[in-house]
Amino acid sequence: MSTNDSAVGLIYPNCLKESSDQPGEPMDVIELLQHHVDAFVENCPKPVILEAGCGSGGYLRFPEGSRIVGIDISQEELDKNTIVSEKIVGDIQEYEHEPNSYDLVICWDVLEHIPHPDKAFAKFCGAVKPDGLIVLAFPNVCSLKAIVAKMTPHWFHVKLYRLIYGKKYGSPGYITFPTVLHKFLKNGTIREFAQHNNLNTVVAESHESGVQKRFRRKFYLGDGVFRFFDKCLRLVTFGNVVLMDSDWVYLFRKSS
Ligand SMILES: C[S@@+](CC[C@H](N)C(=O)[O-])C[C@H]1O[C@@H](n2cnc3c(N)ncnc32)[C@H](O)[C@@H]1O
Repeated sequence: MSTNDSAVGLIYPNCLKESSDQPGEPMDVIELLQHHVDAFVENCPKPVILEAGCGSGGYLRFPEGSRIVGIDISQEELDKNTIVSEKIVGDIQEYEHEPNSYDLVICWDVLEHIPHPDKAFAKFCGAVKPDGLIVLAFPNVCSLKAIVAKMTPHWFHVKLYRLIYGKKYGSPGYITFPTVLHKFLKNGTIREFAQHNNLNTVVAESHESGVQKRFRRKFYLGDGVFRFFDKCLRLVTFGNVVLMDSDWVYLFRKSS
């Protein structure tokens, strides 16, 4: 991971996930978000953080003394998670958090797997403190990756992930999750919802996901080839479907 270690004390750095960017590539989105989080925790040295759909690990680093609460629907995933200090087995669409109780809410690669992402987002809006941050990351519903994921059966995802990451995927302890990709996750809809819920958009970046980058590297599909296909796809679909920008990340700040 290419974030700056010196900005904050680290907790369990070995359990953090890796961005698959190569050294020397432009600042990736994780680095960009980490930069904002580091600036935020300078004024909030012991933040209370909610990792919604925390799974077995996370991408962002927090100072020592942070209180990290993880909620996930899967006990198995929570059992593997060594980053969070408190664990809740629950559904992020329904779980009632104490209002205004978190400095930071993170929901990374989860909203695409649930039928009511709007309900989950509304819960985050209520749970975060005024001036607090919400980080969301999920696939771009207008990307080829998302369209393929939505239209293919779950067993195909398992096979593809095994091809990219190795045989452990799909076996007990290494679950892949069915994809719903609700249309609420469209960029415009998310931004509008945020605005109606007193959230200011600080970051809204589309980017190529680590999975897609790994896929390309595995099959020697260089940037040039992909960018060419990206241009063709945009042309043929009048810009409605894209290839390179497979995912979105957002950082919202709740108004005070
Ligand atoms: C693809 S994993 C992402 C995990 C982690 N956030 C990360 O970035 O690696 C999706 C996670 O969402 C959890 N999940 C799926 N539906 C959920 C729900 N309704 N409520 C809470 N967690 C859920 C799954 O159990 C899984 O751990």
